[in-house]
Order: sequence, then C-alpha cells, then structure tokens
Amino acid sequence: MKRTIELFKERGLLKVIDKEVDIDLEMAHIAYVEVKKENSKALLFTKPVSKKMGKKFDMPVLMNTFASYKATELIFGTKPDDIATTIEELLHLKPPKGFAKKIELFAKLFELRKVFPKRSDKKGECQEVVFKGGEVDLYSLPILKTWPEDGGPFITMGQVYTESLDGTKQNLGMYRLQVYDKERLGMHWQIHKDGAHFFHDYKKAGKKMPVTVAIGGDPLYIWCGQAPMPNGMFELLLYGLIKGENPKLVKSITNPIYIPSDVDIVIEGWVDPEKFEVEGPFGDHTGYYTLKEPYPVMDVTCITQKKEPVYQATVVGKPPLEDKYMGWATERVFLPLLKTTAPDLIDYRMPENGVFHNLIIAKMDIRYPGHAKQFMHAFWGVGQMSFVKHAFFVGSDAPALNSYEELSDYILDRVSVENIIISEGVCDALDHSSPSYAYGGKLGVDCTKDNVNFPKKEIIQDEKLLNKLKALDDDIVALKQYKTYTKTPIAVISVKKTKPMIEVYNAIKEVKKYTKLLVFVDEEKNDIANPYMLIWRVVNNIDAKRDIYLEEEFIGVDATNKSKIDGYKREWPGDANCDEAVIKSLQNRGIIEVDDKFLERFRIVD
Ligand SMILES: Cc1cc2nc3c(=O)[nH]c(=O)nc-3n(C[C@H](O)[C@H](O)[C@H](O)COP(=O)(O)O)c2cc1C
Repeated sequence: MKRTIELFKERGLLKVIDKEVDIDLEMAHIAYVEVKKENSKALLFTKPVSKKMGKKFDMPVLMNTFASYKATELIFGTKPDDIATTIEELLHLKPPKGFAKKIELFAKLFELRKVFPKRSDKKGECQEVVFKGGEVDLYSLPILKTWPEDGGPFITMGQVYTESLDGTKQNLGMYRLQVYDKERLGMHWQIHKDGAHFFHDYKKAGKKMPVTVAIGGDPLYIWCGQAPMPNGMFELLLYGLIKGENPKLVKSITNPIYIPSDVDIVIEGWVDPEKFEVEGPFGDHTGYYTLKEPYPVMDVTCITQKKEPVYQATVVGKPPLEDKYMGWATERVFLPLLKTTAPDLIDYRMPENGVFHNLIIAKMDIRYPGHAKQFMHAFWGVGQMSFVKHAFFVGSDAPALNSYEELSDYILDRVSVENIIISEGVCDALDHSSPSYAYGGKLGVDCTKDNVNFPKKEIIQDEKLLNKLKALDDDIVALKQYKTYTKTPIAVISVKKTKPMIEVYNAIKEVKKYTKLLVFVDEEKNDIANPYMLIWRVVNNIDAKRDIYLEEEFIGVDATNKSKIDGYKREWPGDANCDEAVIKSLQNRGIIEVDDKFLERFRIVD
C-alpha cells in the first residue's frame, strides 16, 4: 500500500488531505465528488477523526485508489488488455511445431508456476501488531459511514477470505461489512456469490465458518476480490497471473484462513451459521439505498495489523465512481473468458452509467439466423453475466463500442419489435425494480441487421409535441426529444404520476406518427436534459417484463418509480444523495471546490 501511495505521488495521481476530516460522511462525500472530476485522483486523508466518538485516528485513510485509467494500469503493472491477450494465448495453446516454438511454450508454462499462491508458516508483516480477545475493537479503525441513511459504519474495501467446508477450495470476495459493535461485522455476501455458497455448506453441516477480512496491501488484491471468477477458482490465481509473482500467504492467528502477508489490517473471526442480523440500509453502487435485510454475522476473534497501517475505503453510489475503473479492467480481462462461451463475440462494454449489470452492449460476428438471440441466452446463463438486465447486440460493422454517439445512432436505426426479446431470469440481488427478489425481466435487442424499413417519423418541435401530449393526458409535464434523425426518435417525457404509465401510453397513441420510443420518468429527481443520468435512472428503474410496452412503431418504457399504483409489492428504495449541509461545510472549509452546476450534473445532492 505504501509503495502504491509513493507511486501515485510520483505520477501526480494522489492528493494528500492534511486537514481533519470526519469519517462520518465527510470523507466519503469528498471522495465521491473527487472521482467524478476529470483527472480525478486518489485521496490520502492523514487526519481522520470521528466527532461523534470524540476520536482522532492514528492511521491514514486511502480512498479512490482506482481513480482513473492511469491509476488502474499502474496497479496492474500493465494494460488490462495485455492481460486479456495473455489469457487468450493460454486458452489457445497449440502443440508447438519446431524447436524454437517448443522452447517458447516451455517458457510460457514455466512462467505459469508463479500463478499459484504460496503458503508460509512464518508470521506476516500484517501481523506485526496483534489485538486478541478483550483487546478487539473495530472502532479503533477509521471505518466510514458513507451515506446519510446508512445503517452504520461499513468496511467498504474488505477482502473477504473464506474456504470450503472440506478446506480444499479458497475464495476471495469483496463484500461490504457493517460494523454492529466493537467485535461484530455483518457479512453482505449476496445469495449468488461464492462466499454465500460456502456459508450454506457450513450451515447444512451445523459448523461455524472461519472468515478473515483483509484491508489494504497491494490494491490488486481488492480488484481480484470483485473479479467474477468461476465458482471454485481462487481469485488470487489472477493476482499471480497479472503480477507474474506468487501471492505470499500467511495463516490467520485464530482461524485456519490464509491471507496475503503484506495486507495492512486483518480482521479474523468465525461466522455462526445460525446467527443473522439486520443489515443495511446502505447507499449502494446502483445509486440507490439497499434496504434492510438479514445477513450472517462474524464474531471477531483477533485484529492484526502492520506497525504503520493504511486503511483503505471506497464509496459506491451514482456514477461515475471508482468502480467505473475497476469494472473497466474486469470487462477487458474477462473478454477472452467470455469468448469461450460465445466464440463469435468481438467485444463488449458495460458502461458505468448502466450500472454494469443493467446494460451491456456486445459486438459480434453473425454467422447464422438467430445468432444474436442465441448469444442473449448464453449471456443470461453464464456466471455473474446472468445478472445483465438489458443487452444490445451489434454486428461487426458497428462503430467502436466506446463511441457512444455513433453507436447509439447505429442501434436506433435497427430497433424494431421483431428484433426484441423479452425474457426473465436471475438478476442481481440489489435490483430494486424486479417484482420479486433477485428474479426479473430481461431485455435483449438484436441490432445486428438493418431490417427496419418503416417510413420516417414526422418530426415536430419539442414544444408542439408536448402540447399534443398534454392535451391527451394530464400526467405529462415536460418533454425532450433525442436522436430525431434516426429511425427511432426518442421522446423522454416527465410525468407527475397519478396512474400506471400503461394508461398514459394507451392514451397518447395518436402521436405515433411523430415519435417511436417514449421513455417515461418522474418529474421529481430527473433532469430530462441530462442523458448520462437519465440512462442511469432508466436501466435501474425498469423491469423489462412489466415496464416495456411493445407495439410496432410505438415503444413505451416506464422508468418511473413504482408503487402500489403499479401493483409493485416491495419497498421502493430512495436515491443515495449527499448531505447538503456536509457538502456546504466542505466547500466553506476549502476541502472541495465544485460549483452548483457540477453538483447538479451528477445529481450529488437531492
Ligand atoms: C465496490 C464494490 C462493492 C461490492 N460489494 C458487494 C457486496 O457487498 N456484496 C456482494 O455480494 N458483492 C459485492 N460486490 C461484488 C462482488 O465483489 C463480486 O460479485 C465478486 O465477484 C464476488 O465474488 P465471489 O463470487 O467469489 O463471492 C462488490 C463489488 C464492488 C466493486
């Protein structure tokens, strides 16, 4: 961690904040604002305090470790695309022809020995200072409360190490951990994750599960923790592959779990599979709060640390945040692995304002009828890719996947009802719009062929279209059109909702000749002139089965918040917004320097 901080300093990628900053909201708000800027930097807070606890901490806090593409490449030691190339080569190893090729292959295989973690019986640097039994106190660590309505402080960059019941498999997952008191943590491993799978085996066997949480060390550990490795594969193998050096592990003091010897802080303990406690709420990476739910609890038996540890934390919420850069690296590294299931895949993107699993755009070579539709099902069936709610497939002639303007033109010229599949399946445990927990609608759009031959719409000005709409339905408040030159002009319509949107959609069908894709959003909390945040809102708020109305040449998308009016039976969560008074205080103290326009652009305060 210290080496990374030095490297960041040398390259101008770090800001040191020497003023006292509170771990209760202030620190997270500063990091949240910083990483939304262009050329955003990692932040080292040297004087963390807690006014609530009347405490000053003697350990600095590092946030926004993955604050940019540059920082991420520095942590990887190379470009994530280069790692993808190495993986691709390994996946396609052929028997060598000729002596030189044999030597080359031998060298490659020899290098692979560095992939495997090495266990040592010695104590690690991370065990220089030991607190056991009555000395254990989670409040001695500068653990942040990141959002105003959070259920408490959460460890947000914890590497959670576990092992299978029979001890043959290890797992590293990145899950948030709520601090309940000085010796208990909530284990937020969601139902689909490997940590949860291990937990269920311990529960079935009626045995306590050993867990060790590590914080800090090489930042690549935490990236490995969030990487969607197949079940049963230890994520530190990726570390070995990327770094070309064996991860060096030492045993925890009070349980059998091995952790990297160079991490900064280690929290060891046991999870009793019969004990659950309410976890949350927590301002999540969807930009919404996830609501209270019961999760398992870890009883902490020991905390160890380096002599001079650095505490590492992140803040998740509305995009863009540091998970944008972590997600970008994941997307690049996992491309060759995804190709093993979908061989004609050329490339894919998961834009951060699509909240990763809510929007994917994939480019592919088309070889036969229904090929894109076959891919949709393949994606919805593969590991964590199966969480994807909305998938657009484009052909090899499509513009580059990160040229969003040109790409959206290409897509909109190919949207027709017959190219759309609405299905259902597994979705992320955090998804709030699905009618039931972790299961909901899926949208797949095949834009690989240009078979859309409808007459062009008669485009009229926003004001005129709005007047026509207002005359047809009272809920409609404002309107903005996008991409009117494509075959699928979009009308974003804000509403003061008094009824289900299907009724509004049915009432306004006579405007069909002027527009094709109608997107309904609530007037409150949405700016219809801010497409970046609109995309975030729309893909978060829809369940394809319930909220997309398909009629040839007239497609409705209901991205409003749902309630009883819509037959929605769950609790709809609120947006994660910064506390305005905290932001003002940070501005007044000169710790953050952003204007109202910036705050509005990313909808930072309510
Ligand atoms: C910043 C961040 C926070 C995350 N928090 C959680 C979490 O609280 N719970 C969870 O299940 N997954 C969380 N994830 C996603 C997991 O880390 C990811 O799905 C990982 O692959 C899980 O590993 P596993 O399948 O080995 O358990 C988070 C990811 C990131 C980038």
